[in-house]
Amino acid sequence: MIILGIETSCDETSAAVVKDGKEILSSIILSQDVLHRQFGGVVPEIACRAHLETIIGIVNNAIADAKLQLAEIDAVAVVNTPGLIGALLIGVTTAKTLCMALGVPLIAIDHLHAHIYANNLENETIQYPAIGLVVSGGHTTIFLSESETKHIPLGGTIDDAAGEAFDKVSKILGLGYPGGPVIDRIAAQGDRRAVAFPRSYLEKDSLDFSFSGLKTAVLYHYRGQDSKASGSKTSSEHEIANIAASFQEAVVDVLIDKTLLASKMSNARGILLGGGVAANSRLRQRLKDKSNETGIPVYYPSPVLCTDNAAMVAGLAYKKYLEGDVAGLDLEAIP
Ligand code: KG4
Ligand code: ZN
Repeated sequence: MIILGIETSCDETSAAVVKDGKEILSSIILSQDVLHRQFGGVVPEIACRAHLETIIGIVNNAIADAKLQLAEIDAVAVVNTPGLIGALLIGVTTAKTLCMALGVPLIAIDHLHAHIYANNLENETIQYPAIGLVVSGGHTTIFLSESETKHIPLGGTIDDAAGEAFDKVSKILGLGYPGGPVIDRIAAQGDRRAVAFPRSYLEKDSLDFSFSGLKTAVLYHYRGQDSKASGSKTSSEHEIANIAASFQEAVVDVLIDKTLLASKMSNARGILLGGGVAANSRLRQRLKDKSNETGIPVYYPSPVLCTDNAAMVAGLAYKKYLEGDVAGLDLEAIP
């Protein structure tokens, strides 16, 4: 079964063709980073207009790259939640129109569940129940994943998402947008123990997250450091690297501790990482080490499948289709 997936929930316009939930025949991802960079974050109106201008070309490219004709598509899958409402609407309307014109089923996909499914695209051995940790620009959510399609939220962020914290700290340090990749790179040169930033665990055994206090601590530390460096307003590269490394370690500590706690509480048989922050090299390394210690397998997708992409959408859609979970043309976008 050949499924065309469409993803427009935030600032990537993406279309992909996936066969039988596994084989990626094509995957086109157009990042809007250059459009949002000057604002230090995603501007919803700009994202929405850019999706509108590019979606038809992206879909055509995905079909062409898969060496197919539109008429050979068996179903169309689209992310309808969560995301920016204007951005979601472009994808949902495109998908519905294609389904109507081609006479094929429409499959509605939850963006966060698709991030977890990215692991299934590359692995045959995943066992359930598993703990799914989605860490992205908009979400930090721990799921109990009972199967590829069934995910029960156990906890989430009460303020900033993990990726949002990376992006905001990057802005504070003057490192640009998106912040995650650049902090990841610069942190490798820094000392993780240079600054003792706070780790927020909330109540005992809580699976919720809070990153806004950490972000503020970075801001105060950086400002304090600036004012101490009398005469020079900029911190040295070395100091910036230390702050980046210490911040990243604080985020990773909390993500790992809570993920392992969730895994223990639910006797999980695996841990599935997903979302843009799952591309973080320190988080991957630390979780791999934990996996070796605990014997619980940890999975994370290739970096290109961590950030937003439509291959994970088309992949998950196959499993949902097999379960008879097909949407009507009255499908709504839910922000
Ligand atoms: O999943 P995603 O592409 O979009 C959303 O669904 O939000 O995630 C984007 C987020 C951004 O905040 C970006 O800074 C972060 O993922 N990110 C990273 C890394 N690569 C991307 N964060 C930490 N380390 C990375 N290597
Ligand atoms: Zn995402």
